[in-house]
Amino acid sequence: MVSVAIDGPAGAGKSTIAKRVSAELGFIYVDTGAMYRAVGAACLEKGVDIHDKEAVIALLPDISIDIVFRDGEQRVILNGRDVSEEIRMEKVSMTASVVSAIPQVRAFLLELQRNFARNYNVIMDGRDIGTVVLPNAEVKIFLTASAESRAERRTRQLEEKGVHADYDTVLRDIIERDHQDMNRETAPLKAADDACIIDTTELNLEQSVQKIIDTIKEKL
Ligand code: DC
Repeated sequence: MVSVAIDGPAGAGKSTIAKRVSAELGFIYVDTGAMYRAVGAACLEKGVDIHDKEAVIALLPDISIDIVFRDGEQRVILNGRDVSEEIRMEKVSMTASVVSAIPQVRAFLLELQRNFARNYNVIMDGRDIGTVVLPNAEVKIFLTASAESRAERRTRQLEEKGVHADYDTVLRDIIERDHQDMNRETAPLKAADDACIIDTTELNLEQSVQKIIDTIKEKL
């Protein structure tokens, strides 16, 4: 089995690019952020205070997350309910980032993530895939872009979905999430020593997809 790890900050285009690249290479695309989002959504649903670590940990045995693929697209099933759309809400983004700093939450999701790589050729995206989840991945990419260009793209994406978004708020959220994701003790966001660092600030989607396909083909 071949694994491609793509890590990077929020809004760098990991999922859009990884979806395209996986379709082209015939790999399955696994979005690990969605799993943290599902844990965050479960806390919101049950009214659990995400800053109360013990309360979040106590909720874990009641959380069941299944990842299924429909028409090649990952769907997230939380306690039997498809939450793939609702976990994209902005309030879930921040919640996911907070609960993802809890080591027990990370341990809870680790096996689920590793299992995919045992059974399929995968492109897996997240924050710690090349460093912790799949340290032996054949290809490791760290995808980044300036906070401003990430905020611009995210604002546009939300507007396209019909969700009103304010650039300054999106930028502030991105900076706050970067800070949280990079500064936590367990599995912080950082490039693996052997990762190829790709900055997409000056690249459009097509150029980014091509650059990643070229990088993967060079390594395999
Ligand atoms: O990629 P995303 O924005 O959907 O991820 C949501 C949050 O989940 C992100 O702010 C940090 C956390 N996350 C993580 O800690 N490790 C991963 N491998 C993926 C996501």
